[in-house]
Formats: sequence, C-alpha cells, structure tokens
Amino acid sequence: MSTERGWVAPRPGGSEVFELVEIEVPDPAVGEVTIEIRAAGMNPADYKHPRGAKPEQLPVRIGYEVAGVIRAIGPDTTIASGPVSIGDEVIAFRVSGGYATAITVPAKDVFAKPENLTFPEAANLLLAAATAADMIRVTGVHPGETVLVHGASGAVGVSLLQQFREIGGIRAIGTASASNADVVRQFGGEPVEYGSGLADRVRAMAPEGVSAAFDCVGTDEAVEVSLALVEDRDRIVTIAAQHRAADDGIRLVAGAIPESAAFRDSVRGRLIDLAAAGTLVVPVARTFPLTQAHEALDLLESGHPGGKLALIP
Ligand SMILES: NC(=O)c1ccc[n+]([C@@H]2O[C@H](COP(=O)([O-])OP(=O)(O)OC[C@H]3O[C@@H](n4cnc5c(N)ncnc54)[C@H](OP(=O)(O)O)[C@@H]3O)[C@@H](O)[C@H]2O)c1
Repeated sequence: MSTERGWVAPRPGGSEVFELVEIEVPDPAVGEVTIEIRAAGMNPADYKHPRGAKPEQLPVRIGYEVAGVIRAIGPDTTIASGPVSIGDEVIAFRVSGGYATAITVPAKDVFAKPENLTFPEAANLLLAAATAADMIRVTGVHPGETVLVHGASGAVGVSLLQQFREIGGIRAIGTASASNADVVRQFGGEPVEYGSGLADRVRAMAPEGVSAAFDCVGTDEAVEVSLALVEDRDRIVTIAAQHRAADDGIRLVAGAIPESAAFRDSVRGRLIDLAAAGTLVVPVARTFPLTQAHEALDLLESGHPGGKLALIP
C-alpha cells in the first residue's frame, strides 16, 4: 500500500466539487499492476459523469485513461499486450481514478505504450479512438460514401476522420468553427462551419447527399441537420445527445452501454497498433500540472480546448 494524491468528487457535482486528496493505492494482487502515472488523459466525461453519482459511488475517483510506468506487478501477471517488467511504459484504459500520482488496475486493461507516442498523447488515445470506432461500428460506414461529422475538430472528431482514412474511400464533411477549419483539413476532412444555415452549406458541398452522420457535439442543430440530410435514422449516431436518441430513433453509443463497452475493450489493441504505425495521431493542445486540474477542466468545459489536454503528476 502507498499513499498517493488524486482528484475525487466527494459529492455529486461537476468539476467545481473536485478535490485533490490523499488516496491509498493498494499493492497489486494477482492480475493487477501498479502504474506510476506520467500523464492523465482528460475527457468531457470526467466532469459530466460525477454529476449523476449515487451515494454508494462516492467519492468518485476522476479520470478514465492514463499513461505511465510500471511500478509493481502482481504475482503471475501479464498485461493485455503480453509480458511486463518493472519500468515498462504503458497505457491503461478504462480505469477509474486516472487524475492521480499512481493507480493499481486490472492488468487486462494495460497495454505497452508505443515508443513514438509521448505520455500525454498515449494517455489521450483510447477513450476518443474507441468511441470513434464504436460510432463506425453502428453506422457500418463503407468506402464510396459521403458522411457528415459534427465536431470534426474535436478529440473524437479527429479520430473519426483518421479512422475513415484508414478504411479508405470515405468523403467526410466535418463541422468546426472557422478557426479550426485547418484541423479538419489536416486529418482528411472537408470543413464546414457550424451555425445557422449548416444544412444548406452541406447540401451545396454534397448535392448527391450524405448517407450517414456522426454527432460528436450533441446540440439540437447537429441532430436536426443530421435528421434533415440522412434518410436512414439507423445511420445517424450521437455520443452526446442522449435524449434525442430516444426521442428521434437515432443511434446512441456510450461506454455505459454493455455492447459498446465490450466492443471498445476489443478494439484497444488495434487502435494502439494504428497509433504505433503513425496512422492515428493524438493532437495534444496543452498539459497542466496535476494540481491544476480545475484550470484544465475550465478549458475543457469551454467546448473549444483546441486538442487534447493532459495532467502531469
Ligand atoms: N458517448 C460516449 O461514449 C462519448 C465518448 C467521448 C466523448 N463524448 C462526448 O462527445 C462530445 C465531444 O467530446 P470530445 O472529447 O471530442 O470534445 P472536444 O475535444 O472538446 O471537442 C468538442 C468539439 O465540439 C465542437 N463544438 C463546440 N461547440 C459547438 C457548437 N456550439 N456547435 C457545434 N460544434 C461545437 C468543437 O468545435 P470548435 O472547437 O472547432 O468550435 C469541437 O469540435 C462531448 O460532449 C463528450 O462528452 C461521448
């Protein structure tokens, strides 16, 4: 057991209730490893999920993904990618309590970190990439299609664009603010500015129509434009408009849905291989010391972080 520091939500609420406290990190049992965290990946879920925490879940440990160095290994234990030694650089996802100095986690959720990824990049690879892969799964997108991505400049958006490029032959029109049009272009998408008149701008760019829509934003505009442009509601997927999915009969994917969770677990190794090959890159905008989680979360909650953010213990 070691005493570490980590961010928790002691009561239900967003980032305003988060506190940096002392936490006890147990020694690893069989099938577990302890990771000294070098970077904690940051995702909107970090501040959204604790708002709905039930009393038995408190205090909620914050952070779903990390990269770091193996500090201790349970007896007879290998990690998801194979044998492991003290000092190895690894990625772990999905974990509970990544905003911390160290964590003990099931070894099945730990993978060797590709050497070409920095710790902040590695810590931010899997949640966004597995979400994007899950969206591709439910829409069944294939070569020859023209698709619309809402929030193409965001973390999930740029991962989607890169995974389309890997499939090949997909034309992706991606919404972003004017200042992020180049980000969409950089990852192979065709940028279009969101806001009033979006449906007409997309129609002008793709008179032949779009056959699937990927909502990584969750605004009414994103859902309405998708409904107006895509004939088959089964080929509209959202990750951020839960209520609209139920009301409008479009697809929803989320880590809490068992089918999504199982699929996301199954693609982690493949996504790491893509990152190792340089096919999937993680644009990191900024890093913050672990102590400055509130400042980092403020930037994330602005909705325009400009790339991934990481906390460095
Ligand atoms: N269900 C799931 O499993 C799951 C998984 C991951 C994420 N999510 C959710 O998906 C959303 C995106 O996550 P992320 O990590 O990609 O976030 P992110 O990196 O912060 O990206 C946010 C994106 O939204 C765009 N945006 C901001 N305000 C907008 C507006 N008013 N209209 C249209 N677009 C707007 C941004 O564009 P500009 O910066 O160019 O303005 C950017 O492309 C979040 O709501 C998150 O909670 C859900």
